[in-house]
Amino acid sequence: MLEPTTPTLGSCFAFARNKLDEADARALCEEAFSVDFSGLIADADAPVTNVQLKRLRDFVRRRSDGEPVAYIVRSKGFWRHEFAVTSDTLIPRPETEALVETVLPFLSSVSRVLDLGTGSGAIGLSIAAETGAHVLLTDLSCTALQVAAENAATLAINVQFRQSNWYDAIDESFDCIVSNPPYVASHDKHLQIGDLPYEPHLALDGGLDGLEALRIVVGEAPDHLRPGGRLMVEHGFDQADAVGTLFCAAGFQRIELLRDLSNHPRVTHGLLT
Ligand SMILES: C[S@@+](CC[C@H](N)C(=O)[O-])C[C@H]1O[C@@H](n2cnc3c(N)ncnc32)[C@H](O)[C@@H]1O
Repeated sequence: MLEPTTPTLGSCFAFARNKLDEADARALCEEAFSVDFSGLIADADAPVTNVQLKRLRDFVRRRSDGEPVAYIVRSKGFWRHEFAVTSDTLIPRPETEALVETVLPFLSSVSRVLDLGTGSGAIGLSIAAETGAHVLLTDLSCTALQVAAENAATLAINVQFRQSNWYDAIDESFDCIVSNPPYVASHDKHLQIGDLPYEPHLALDGGLDGLEALRIVVGEAPDHLRPGGRLMVEHGFDQADAVGTLFCAAGFQRIELLRDLSNHPRVTHGLLT
């Protein structure tokens, strides 16, 4: 017989909400109790087990200590899919969806695409799912590539994987290269704020001026693009001029800059004629 004090979905949500903001409390309760938010509300009087309660308490403690929700629930929505994420992968950002949105009109099912620094695979897998293009996902991190492969299997998306230090292990040519490389300057105080201290340094640190990876990704792209090929990169909101200069120096034409949902300059792309 259950005691009247038995915790319920409703009382557990109230407990989490008391410690965290609503979005976080909701996400952690959904994960702890394997229920969506409408179920949480509709079945507010349903009892929870001790195991579930312990799980929620652990989640709330970790979130209160600063750990990103995406790492606690091991998942993040991006474009049209949920992607598994771990502390070996960057948490895909909404602003990166601008890159996916921009590249799609240039691709078809016969395009060959290279996603450099794929992390969880969010960009490359979204492109492959939308277009049926042949996409090669690369990263220096083997553990990130394992997560990307797990996502490809879960989503049943057919792509290829390769470990590579930028272009070092790439000898093919592509119709399109996409990349969201690390672009935060090593001394930038933002590396110590919010989710960033929990994310892999390799995914964030772009060297002294934040442009070290971008110099390689842009500068060496012409050696790996077919004539008429296109390069598209994400960068910091204050790096547009520097990245535009890199595109010009590498011989790209029709260089365009796009803004993200917050109206920040975020993606530069150009054509190799
Ligand atoms: C900003 S994260 C982007 C991850 C993913 N593409 C996304 O947008 O969510 C940069 C990625 O570049 C990878 N990376 C860092 N240095 C690299 C290198 N030298 N060669 C290849 N990949 C590298 C990191 O492991 C990380 O996955």
